This record gives sequence, structure tokens and C-alpha cells, in this order.
Amino acid sequence: MTNEKTLEATASAMLAGGKGILATDETAGTCTKRFLECGIESTDDSRRAYREMLYTTPGIREYISAVILCDETIRQSAADGRRFVDLLNGAGIIPGVKVDMGAKPLAKAQEETVTEGLDGLRERLNEYHEMGARFTKWRAVINIGPEIPSRYCIETNAHALGRYAALAQEAGLVPIVEPEVISNGDHDIDRCQEVTEHVLHSVFEQLAMQRCFLEGIILKPNMITPGRECPAQADAGEIAERTLKTLRGCVPAAVPGIAFLSGGQSGEEACERLGAMASDGPLPWQLTFSFGRALQRPALQIWGGDPANVAAAQSAVLHRARMSSMGRMGRYSPNMEQASV
Ligand code: 13P
Repeated sequence: MTNEKTLEATASAMLAGGKGILATDETAGTCTKRFLECGIESTDDSRRAYREMLYTTPGIREYISAVILCDETIRQSAADGRRFVDLLNGAGIIPGVKVDMGAKPLAKAQEETVTEGLDGLRERLNEYHEMGARFTKWRAVINIGPEIPSRYCIETNAHALGRYAALAQEAGLVPIVEPEVISNGDHDIDRCQEVTEHVLHSVFEQLAMQRCFLEGIILKPNMITPGRECPAQADAGEIAERTLKTLRGCVPAAVPGIAFLSGGQSGEEACERLGAMASDGPLPWQLTFSFGRALQRPALQIWGGDPANVAAAQSAVLHRARMSSMGRMGRYSPNMEQASV
């Protein structure tokens, strides 16, 4: 297979019907924060045990096509000695890895960040490919405030996303391109839409300029929502309509799929909004989920670091994966939540 054919085949398998992507690529720092909120001690081994619980959930492959790991996890193994990458591949789930090094303060731009990690990236990508990863993720962070985002911040992050995506494709890895417009703040839905449109135009301009093969990427955007502290909140119908309008205007039809991040939404909200979009007629791309918190939150609370809770935590993650799959297929309804947790 040519490299382009390989990228298309991987993207298509990641977007397989009815399934979505489980994001578990929290760095040790972020994972520690989430563990602390649930009173769980964070060590190499507790993070490893938590990921093992998620990856070995019976039946999960029915709803999950791919899992995003972080550098720490991709080097870890299950208690029986199988490397996580091999365990996932063996279960028919495609393993991928977050390759950025995080959002760092952007020089001369207070409150804004640029995502770093380009130095030495070609070598790291080759190593991940060798380990068995078949896709990658890079997240740019765009905050909204009275004076931000600046054009400087948007274009610097878009340029980095383009450089990352071209390098990932060169290594035979599908890049998940994630420009996240953060939902913190009291801005209204119009402002989120305006900023997201600007960001997506800039990202696709850079992807084109840097010779990315659009058929071999997956876009991971935010939904268009009001800021979390905005007094005028929006219902699922409006969020779906605004998000699709934005995506139709900004995302070329050559892109095979769009996998939403959950960005702090509850599992129920994320499923309902995705469901409203999926019911909205034919779209040029596959629409799916790549949720982190919206898939994991109840399972993490139930697990609590105690091996005795593994089965209950696994049924919680399976439930959220099934609900998200229903959302993707346009069949979600909130009263499905009452059926088993
Ligand atoms: P959330 O769904 O929790 O936003 O996480 C997805 C993700 O990968 C963020 O980079």
C-alpha cells in the first residue's frame, strides 16, 4: 500500500460505523489532578491500573474503534505483561498517541499559549510507529476573553498543527488535528462561533500550505457553545445547528471525519448534542466522538483506585461508550440513561 492509502485505511477504520475514539491521553500531571478530585493516589502503577481497567472492558470494542494514549501509557503493560499497544491491537482497537508537549505561554502574549513539541518530533513519531501506534494527536488551545484570541495566537498554533500533521503523515500515522476553543468564560455562542470559524480557516490554510493529505487526517474540534459562565445558555438543537453551520463553512469535504472533544460537557450533554447533529441529514464527513471526560468520569469515580471496583467501573465506561455510540448514530435519548449504569 502507498503511504496515502495506508493513511486513508487507518482513518476509515478509526471512523468505523457506530464507533468512536476513547481519549485517555491525559499526561501524568492531568491524570494526577483528576485522581486527586476522586481521592485516588496517583503513581505510575495506579495510572497504569486505571488504564488497564478501561482497555480491558468487556465488549468495549463494539463502541470504540481507537484509543489515544500518552507517552507514559504507551510504554506500559497490563498486569499479565502484555504491552497495552499489543493488548489493544489484539482486541481490534487501534492504538494512537498524543505527541504534543503541552500548551506553553506564548511569548509576548499574556494569557495565551502555543502548543510545543515539534523539536525531535520526526524521531519520536518513528519510535511510536515502531511500537505499534497508527495515529497521533496534537492539541492547540485557544482561549476566549475580551481581548483574545489574538491573530498571532491563532496563526502560530495553526502553523504548529500543520507542521505536526505533515510530519505524522510522513511517518505513516494519521494525525488527529485538535484546535480546541476553550469553553471557559462568559462569552456568548456568537463569539464562540466567530472564534472557531477563524481558527478552522487558519488551520485548513496551514494544512493546505504544508501539503497535508486531507483524506488522511481526522479533525477534533469543539462544539459551538456559549461560554460556561454565559447567562444565555443554548439547547442541544441550537448547539447542533451552529456547530454544523460552522463545520460546513470551514471543513473541506475531503476530510474523512470529525471527532468531537467533550471539553468539560457532561456525558449526557455531549451525547445529546452529538445526537442532534447526527440526525441532521447527510454530511460530507463522518461525525463521531473522541471524548475523554464524557466517557471516563463516572468510571473513574466508581473505580476509586480499588481493584474490587473494576467490574462496576467497566460497566460504567461501557454504558457511556454505548450512549456515545447512540449519539453518533442519531439514536440517543436521555431516557436511555436509566438503563444499567
Ligand atoms: P475531553 O473530551 O475531556 O475534552 O478530552 C478530549 C481530549 O482529548 C482533550 O484533548
